[in-house]
Amino acid sequence: HMPQPCAIVIFGATGDLAQRKLLPTLAHLMHDHPLPQSFCIVAFARRPLDDEQWRAMALKSINTYMPEDDRLDEEGQKQFASHLFYCQSTFEDSQGYQKLKQLLEKLDREQGTAGNRLFYLATPPETDSQIIAQLGAAGLSHPGQGAENGHEEHGNHSNNHGKSWARIIIEKPFGHDLATAQKLNRDLGRVFRENQIYRIDHYMGKETVQNILAFRFSNGIFEPLWNQRYIDHVQITVAESLGIGTRAEFYESEGAIRDIVQNHIMQVLCLTGMEPPVAFDAEAIRDEKVKLLRAINPLTPDEAKQDVVRAQYVAGEVDGKHVVGYKEEQGVKPDSTTETFVALKFFIENWRWEDVPFYIRTGKRLPKRSTEVTIQFKRVPHQLYKPSETKGLVPNRLTIRIQPDEGIALKIGAKVPGAANQLSSVDMSFSYNQAFGIESPEAYERLIADCILGDSTLFIRRDEIEASWRIIDSITKVWKQLPPRRCILIKLEPGGLLRRMGCLSAMDVPGITLSCLWHDAA
Ligand code: BG6
Repeated sequence: HMPQPCAIVIFGATGDLAQRKLLPTLAHLMHDHPLPQSFCIVAFARRPLDDEQWRAMALKSINTYMPEDDRLDEEGQKQFASHLFYCQSTFEDSQGYQKLKQLLEKLDREQGTAGNRLFYLATPPETDSQIIAQLGAAGLSHPGQGAENGHEEHGNHSNNHGKSWARIIIEKPFGHDLATAQKLNRDLGRVFRENQIYRIDHYMGKETVQNILAFRFSNGIFEPLWNQRYIDHVQITVAESLGIGTRAEFYESEGAIRDIVQNHIMQVLCLTGMEPPVAFDAEAIRDEKVKLLRAINPLTPDEAKQDVVRAQYVAGEVDGKHVVGYKEEQGVKPDSTTETFVALKFFIENWRWEDVPFYIRTGKRLPKRSTEVTIQFKRVPHQLYKPSETKGLVPNRLTIRIQPDEGIALKIGAKVPGAANQLSSVDMSFSYNQAFGIESPEAYERLIADCILGDSTLFIRRDEIEASWRIIDSITKVWKQLPPRRCILIKLEPGGLLRRMGCLSAMDVPGITLSCLWHDAA
């Protein structure tokens, strides 16, 4: 599985994502797959830079953002820089795309990129449709003519078998709601076939997220228990200690539900809840993910009020340092009602999950960074021990720690050594660090390499993104119709917020002190 040579064209190359993530990732990829089987990186951007200035900028980024152990030596940096090119244009200017086309043809001839093109849209969402249409008009949605055997891949299953290709990666946010996501899908569909389109969600590139499938489908012992007969409820948490940083403008229009739930959490949910796929391939796996999403009924207005809690962070202490509240962040409106925290409960209405509540929650500026999935099993049918003997016992709980401290733990009951019949919960645990002793690769690296290989298993299909928005829309539509909420200031004890939603208190991050909360049923 060697990535083929290709030209990667980054739209939004001078932006935050490209500088922090994409360039360091590409530098590392290129280092691992040295020339001649390598690639060129073309920045398509407005700023008046030349190749040399762009190279200097890119080198600065990789030296700042690559993990220290991966940094390239001087020779490596020189190599990397020699494969960077700059194409100056606005996104609207059709001449710019002609210039791009000529540059790509030149690279095919001079650098051996073989007519393969990967367009990476790391751009603000409002420019996406424009760029897509322009790529189409310039004939760039097809592989370059310079290709050795000049034909394109066909059919639903893309692979590399010696044919050249053109593909497009699109970053989130993919739409703002179902209607805008459908429009973007239509705009894409006019120019690219579905098997050329790679909708990226970096959570799918995380080892621990992919391991949910390995865990479920390579172990005989858990799958028989993975259903409503044995599972009491499921919890998915994405807690961040970071605030919104410098992204106020973006975040104000997104909020936690669009920023995290619609994409990252839905992906984790799909892998946790889906049926076994018939094969480990892009269509089989994505068929099952879509089926799961379709089994979630959109929330009714009453459910959207009862079973969803929103909140905003206020000033407080995180990691011993004072941090400002959301409304005081630079660029946030003083009367903003954008949620930085959301918790919700819903059901998956199918054979496997009938009556099993799924609890989801995510927030910024929580006391601790922790992303995990917890499967809580039902209690034993008959309790042999006296209540006083089982005080220290929690139900069997399987926790998949996605990050940090990657691993899996199963809580089981055990007898405390001694004369008394005292029980306590202990962990059976697996830690990536101890078991494998290696750092997990950067999520983007796996995904970009997969795209170059023509494997879309870990990318989001058209019907999948629309099914996910349908659920989110049922909540945001209700929010929109509600009158502006009075903000109730409550200091939350651990468990305080979540007690209102039944067993959510079981997944408390200790010490949550979110204090500005809406509960729309109140
Ligand atoms: C991004 C969100 O998609 O994911 C950010 O826009 C969030 O707000 C980030 O911080 C979280 O990613 P990770 O990999 O740090 O969990």
